[in-house]
This record gives sequence, structure tokens and C-alpha cells, in this order.
Amino acid sequence: LLQPSRSLTEEAMAAAGQSQDDLKRIAALRAVELVRSGMVLGLGTGSTAAHALDRIGDLLRGGDLGDIVGIPTSEWAAARAAAAGIPLTDLAAHPVVDLSIDGADEVDPALNLVKGRGGSLLREKMVEGASRRFVVIVDDSKLVPRLGGSGLPRHPRGESEIEPFVTDNKNYIVDLFFEDGIHGDLQAISDDLLRITDVVEHGMFLGLATSVIIARKDGVVLMDK
Ligand code: 5RP
Repeated sequence: LLQPSRSLTEEAMAAAGQSQDDLKRIAALRAVELVRSGMVLGLGTGSTAAHALDRIGDLLRGGDLGDIVGIPTSEWAAARAAAAGIPLTDLAAHPVVDLSIDGADEVDPALNLVKGRGGSLLREKMVEGASRRFVVIVDDSKLVPRLGGSGLPRHPRGESEIEPFVTDNKNYIVDLFFEDGIHGDLQAISDDLLRITDVVEHGMFLGLATSVIIARKDGVVLMDK
């Protein structure tokens, strides 16, 4: 059973009264503290990951970090990282990634995730699955007792529900909704989904996260595998 292993009370006051985006930023900055010169980084997609990309760019520009390369998990991440001055590479050149940092849509108590509401779950799973360490950064609204209660990835928020979303890889994203989350053996359900012809991937990220950094109004909590 996984329990929060560290409560950072020194951040409690700073976090009090913060917006959801402030909390995302707090989680992202904490994750970027793990980045070291020489690393191959997996670069996440979404509004939380954006804070991490921007922070890495700041560190590079300030000379506090050198010689890193990043593998983007989407075209969006590639553009954002390039704007931040992060040198880019790919999995062909670097099949092993030292550290990936990315957000999530849902996190369950076993550190399983739903991801992909930014529309990039396939590339995310490829990069994060190739990572020695995958650190997930979330505000506490993403914590759920059971995955799937808000649906498996569908269109990025704000897009029409009736138009199919086409990913960077030119795949469609199909929505699955569950009234009370997904019951049963998640790995078996994953295996069943992937046996369906034409299903390329799904948004359950099972056993991939090594840590989750959760920013709450009363502080930051780290959940480790
Ligand atoms: C993109 C993702 C994102 O990490 C996820 O949707 C969370 O996004 P945000 O940080 O904007 O809340 O999986 O495909």
C-alpha cells in the first residue's frame, strides 16, 4: 500500500490561497529539482508540464543546468521546449530516458494514471515507458480512489464532444465513460483493450509512474513506489 512518504510543511504557507495553476507550478518546480546536467529528459504535455518546461529553460539560460537533451511527448511539447531553449532529441537516438516529468488526468492510490486529455497519450506512454524514472506532477484535484470516473481520454478539454480528435500520430481518440470508475483488474482490462484490432493505445498508465508529486493548498506530498 502506498502512502504519502513526505509532507513538506515549509511549503504549506506558500501554497495557502493558491490557484489551481499555482499548485500545478509548485508541483512542477519540485520535480525540476530532480533534473541534473547530462540527463536525457522526457518532456511532458499539458498545463502542468508547461511549468516544468519553462523552469528547465530558465535554468539552462541562467547557466544552472547544462548538457541536457529532451524528448518531447507531443508536437506541442516540442514547440514549447524549443521556445524555452531545450535541445531536443528522440527515442531513436536515446532509447533510455533518465527522467520524465509529466502531468496526469487521474492518479489512483497505487500510482496508476489516466493520461491523454492533452491528446498525446501514445507518445507519452512511449517516452515515459522508456524512462528510468517517471515523475508525475499534479494538483490534488487529480487524485481519485479508482481510475476512469471522469472517463478515459477523449478530446482535449474545450473541444466539441461530437468531433473526433486526431492526434499528432493521426490516430483518433475515442471516449470511454464509466459511471463509478473502472472496476476489476486494470491490467487484464488493458490487455483486453490492446487485443482489439485498431486499438493502438489507451489512456491507462499502469505501473509506469515511479513518483507522484502532489501540490495541495496545505503543502506538497510525494508518493513513491
Ligand atoms: C496530455 C496529458 C496531460 O498530462 C494531462 O491531460 C494533464 O493535463 P494538465 O496538466 O493540463 O492538467 O496526459 O496528454
